[in-house]
Amino acid sequence: MTKLNVNGTDLAVDAPLDTPLLWVLRDSLHLTGTKFGCGMGLCGACTVHLEGAAVRACQMPLAAVAGKRITTIEGLGTPDALHAVQQAWRDEDVPQCGYCQSGQLMSAAALLATTPHPSDGDIDAAMAGNICRCGTYDRIRRAIHRAAGALRERAAA
Ligand code: FES
Ligand code: FES
Repeated sequence: MTKLNVNGTDLAVDAPLDTPLLWVLRDSLHLTGTKFGCGMGLCGACTVHLEGAAVRACQMPLAAVAGKRITTIEGLGTPDALHAVQQAWRDEDVPQCGYCQSGQLMSAAALLATTPHPSDGDIDAAMAGNICRCGTYDRIRRAIHRAAGALRERAAA
């Protein structure tokens, strides 16, 4: 059994140590908001937070995340208390098909946790590994600026 903390809950997973975290989340823990795209670290659909940093869950064997704190899209906010990026995504009507969006949101949230005033260049650099086949990139950038403003207002209140 491998111990993890997922979305604030301590738990133990019975899976081979080379199992990618993506499949631990989806198959063992039934947290299916984290998506499979390429399985090669190239698309960002599987992005989660590991100790607060954005990582590709398809590239993280269970052994590498033992004892660590993982946050998935299911733990980013709640329907009654959306994360600022989730609210901004709604306000800017970002998603199209939606498939890439949980990964986009997790990358955006990780960026704003360390960069309260992101420039367009900061956003493009942080989001470069998150591919959207529907081309929602302009709306994503607007939403990140909107979320950054909301977080700054919240911090100043
Ligand atoms: S599924 Fe992990 S980066 Fe594409
Ligand atoms: S919204 Fe369709 S792939 Fe991004």
